Amino acid sequence: MIPAAFAKATIDREGAVGEAWLAELPGIIDDLLTQWDCEPDGEAAHGQVGVVVPVRDAVLKVSFPHPGNVHEPDAFEAWGGEGAVKLYERDDARYAMLLERVHPTTLLEHDEDVVVIAGELHRRLTIPAPDGLPRMSAQADVWEEELRKDAAELDHALPPYVVDAALAVVEELGRDQPEILIHGDFHPRNILRADREAWLAVDPKGYVGDPAYDATTFLRTRAAHQLGADDLMSVLNHELELFAETAELEPERIRRWAQLNMVQSAFWGRRHGFGRARGGSELDRFIALADELALSWIS
Ligand SMILES: Nc1ncnc2c1ncn2[C@@H]1O[C@H](COP(=O)(O)OP(=O)(O)O)[C@@H](O)[C@H]1O
Ligand SMILES: [Mg+2]
Repeated sequence: MIPAAFAKATIDREGAVGEAWLAELPGIIDDLLTQWDCEPDGEAAHGQVGVVVPVRDAVLKVSFPHPGNVHEPDAFEAWGGEGAVKLYERDDARYAMLLERVHPTTLLEHDEDVVVIAGELHRRLTIPAPDGLPRMSAQADVWEEELRKDAAELDHALPPYVVDAALAVVEELGRDQPEILIHGDFHPRNILRADREAWLAVDPKGYVGDPAYDATTFLRTRAAHQLGADDLMSVLNHELELFAETAELEPERIRRWAQLNMVQSAFWGRRHGFGRARGGSELDRFIALADELALSWIS
């Protein structure tokens, strides 16, 4: 019942703790199926952190017990099915949820109006934050510290003014953010085809902060997937404007968050590589793109 690729990714990331959890996972799933009175109906799917077992009209998602996965049900609860899948049941001790079942097709496999679909969905997900979710503003000190450390330690190509622009975003947008619920991992793979609405979001982190942050996650993925496209910069600038318009966000705010995000990505890639490219010329191309965007998105 546990997909092999999911088991491997979990062990690679979490080591012995991951292995121990995987050993318990079939038992956890069995217990939850009994508790919520359902039977498996089809092959299990997975992402990076969760295994998703389809049952008749729902899916059972069990995530690795990591602090980053605690608030997913809180976000679903706050949305109440508006723009996201419905939450039917939750078992917080086991990082498990019973969710509305939609289609496995994601917005990544779709090629029409992708930006407008995501922007409109994002507008609907932008609601006042419920109590008790982690604030993105609490990350500002860590972001600042990491930017300074990376800039000093890494062998990189970013001129000081590009890093300073990112530090200014942390100061000016990062420290004081609105009380808005944000998805936190808003990329096309976490937007699924549905019937009740055309598209619904899954897999939220559930943070409190500036909704323009989600736009940068979306744009970063668009940038990575269109690597090598003709005139990529103007394509991405157009997508940024279009997302802003449909999501009803200020383009300038998105651009500033995105600039910070690209400096962070440029450093992250140099230190760790990316999931899509761990080394070699492919990684070099991703890093060069992050460098270029970090420079070009300075306001
Ligand atoms: N509500 C759902 N209905 C149908 N399939 C789903 C649902 N939620 C997730 N899935 C499937 O499981 C995959 C991983 O789900 P996701 O919540 O994104 O997990 P992760 O947190 O590991 O990224 C999705 O890409 C999709 O194929
Ligand atoms: Mg996911």
